[in-house]
Amino acid sequence: MSESLERVLVVIPTFDEIENLESILARTRAANPAVDILVVDDSSPDGTGELADRVAVGDERIHVLHRAEKVGLGPAYLAGFAWGLDREYDVLAEMDADGSHAPEQLPDLLHALSEAEADLVIGSRYVPGGEVRGWATWRLLLSRGGNRYARTMLRLPVHDATGGFRAYRADVVGELHLDDISSAGYCFQVDMAWRTWRAGYDIVEVPIAFTERTLGRSKMSASIVGEALVRVGWWGLRNRSRGARALAIASRRERS
Ligand code: GDD
Ligand code: MN
Repeated sequence: MSESLERVLVVIPTFDEIENLESILARTRAANPAVDILVVDDSSPDGTGELADRVAVGDERIHVLHRAEKVGLGPAYLAGFAWGLDREYDVLAEMDADGSHAPEQLPDLLHALSEAEADLVIGSRYVPGGEVRGWATWRLLLSRGGNRYARTMLRLPVHDATGGFRAYRADVVGELHLDDISSAGYCFQVDMAWRTWRAGYDIVEVPIAFTERTLGRSKMSASIVGEALVRVGWWGLRNRSRGARALAIASRRERS
């Protein structure tokens, strides 16, 4: 496991975020001057991708990856991770474009990655000190219920498995067999947390304040919720065994 955590890439997936993009890029650059940013835009009809290109012209730390069509949060992150792995970044971070995740809190995640020697740090809404601001009750219940469901079905010791504010050690991401991930929606986040844990890596949660967007609209949909219900249920039933993590740790010890 490489000790260096110097080169950090923050992947920001976008779909119709033209009202939010400039602000989130400026805040991220101001709070994290040594971090690179990759905007992964799914051909936003509102011109988000073109705006990202214009901002990137003036800042060598901002990059843009254009994708042909909107195929979901999961594939957007997978494309961003592949881009970052190709360029040998040490850390791959995730952050929403709409200001729900405070770029000023990214240093807390990066600090935990090195101090706690974690392999994945999740900015967690549901650990002591974490909070959610501005969500309707139904949305909070959906998120908390979805996380309780994931914890129960997958026996995953994580309180905010669906959260999208994260920092991964890049060499761990490279070990997670990303080519067989097919989650399109937000269950991608559960998928990645579960793979990380089952592969024997360590996950640390640090509290964050999640603030609902004030501009643009959420892409959450019933089909995204349905996909998560079915997939997490299937994964859980298929893998009730607790042994996978222990086996992964033992086999990595043998290899090292
Ligand atoms: N490229 C791309 N393609 N980006 C997308 C897509 C897509 O299909 N769908 C959503 N995004 C981007 C949005 O533009 C935004 O930057 C980020 O992903 C989060 O999307 P939102 O639509 O704002 O998510 P949310 O606020 O409703 O949901 C939050 O909670 C979820 C579960 O608790 C987010 O933090 C999610 O990341 C989180 O999984
Ligand atoms: Mn949002």
